[in-house]
Amino acid sequence: MCALRSLKVTLLLHLFCSATSSPLSLPPSQISPPFPTMLPSWPSPSLSIPPVGGDQEDLVERARCPLTLSPSSLVVRFGDPFQVNCSVPMKGFSLLGWEVTLVAPEPTMNSFLVWRVEHMTEWAISPSCYAVSDMEGPCHLHLPVLVYKAPDSVSLSFVNHTGSLLEHHQYTLWCTVHNVAPAGNLLVTFYRGQTQLVQRHSNVTEKTPVTEVFTLDIVPRREDDGNDYWCEAELQLHPTGTQQRVAVASEKVTTTVLFGPQLLCPAKLQVKMGESLRCEVRGNPEPSVIWLKDGRLVTPPAHSTRAHAGKYTVLATGLFGERNVTVEVEVVTCRGTTSTPRRHFLLTALLGLTLNLL
Ligand SMILES: *[C@@H]1O[C@H](CO)[C@@H](O)[C@H](O)[C@H]1NC(C)=O
Ligand SMILES: *[C@@H]1O[C@H](CO)[C@@H](O)[C@H](O)[C@H]1NC(C)=O
Ligand SMILES: *[C@@H]1O[C@H](CO)[C@@H](O)[C@H](O)[C@H]1NC(C)=O
Ligand SMILES: *[C@@H]1O[C@H](CO)[C@@H](O)[C@H](O)[C@H]1NC(C)=O
Repeated sequence: MCALRSLKVTLLLHLFCSATSSPLSLPPSQISPPFPTMLPSWPSPSLSIPPVGGDQEDLVERARCPLTLSPSSLVVRFGDPFQVNCSVPMKGFSLLGWEVTLVAPEPTMNSFLVWRVEHMTEWAISPSCYAVSDMEGPCHLHLPVLVYKAPDSVSLSFVNHTGSLLEHHQYTLWCTVHNVAPAGNLLVTFYRGQTQLVQRHSNVTEKTPVTEVFTLDIVPRREDDGNDYWCEAELQLHPTGTQQRVAVASEKVTTTVLFGPQLLCPAKLQVKMGESLRCEVRGNPEPSVIWLKDGRLVTPPAHSTRAHAGKYTVLATGLFGERNVTVEVEVVTCRGTTSTPRRHFLLTALLGLTLNLL
């Protein structure tokens, strides 16, 4: 056991209080250098996606109207070219045509008809291919079309706030997605560092480009000091994700979280000879710290004698006010030692010397 020994030697007590603040304060709300914007490398002009299971009416129409569209649905970037082949596999149809608002090809009596467009210039379009049956008259097959445009930019900002954040206060983040279509296909993800915080969808049904704002309320903790917030907007164009992503990320917003003071001192502390007394004070900005003993202001001794044992009050003043803690310091000799008083004395003297040199 580590016994308290009344040796007639000078016991060394290295008493100190480190005032540390968590990661050094960064300039308030510093914007990091532009985050590499993930612009997609555009896929080929038009992409086919598997037909999404239609309703009963569609199935009936399909059975009666054996037309084939290739691709069966169209995902095309605004301004890009595309083509769709409508074909009829069997005889008994006298005419094949396209019903479209853009330039349509002349109806044909062939078994297929390709609709070609140099530039997609409409946001909302509902084309269909039709065939006229000798027996049953005309039938139509609708071509689902999704016309999209990647956002011009995505930006993240705090609502009505600049500068450092206060711990436990609530702030609102705005992720603004500029000029995107169709907003209904947007999936917006908020991040802190690499941690995904939340995902948001849009309710907007407009097919034309819109600018939309997505919000997230945050309550920062001291651990979040120095973290980056950012968001990413992805256009979800394909039911299955084999195609290239169309996603744009915002710049990163680095935050400083102000907190404290926080005192991490034990109420009772046995200090072994030569050991330091740890009383950590945390805060951002760095709190100011004073030491009291018997109600009097003292400088924490760097070279303590046995006389330095006793009750100390550590008082820290920081942004969120004042905290204090009372620490009872006991000075003890080394644990489980078999050393003689003489050797203790030597050790003490040696440490005293070392500290004097520091
Ligand atoms: C259109 O589809 C038909 C039937 O599959 C095919 O024979 C024809 O070659 C296609 N035409 C073009 C231009 O792709
Ligand atoms: C931001 O502050 C302005 C002016 O004080 C206020 O009109 C506006 O409603 C605030 N916006 C939000 C989202 O709180
Ligand atoms: C979107 O729709 C949901 C459910 O209808 C609704 O709760 C939410 O408030 C809407 N969001 C926006 C931004 O309109
Ligand atoms: C220490 O804090 C307590 C309340 O937490 C307060 O009553 C006391 O006065 C403080 N002591 C000093 C020295 O400030």
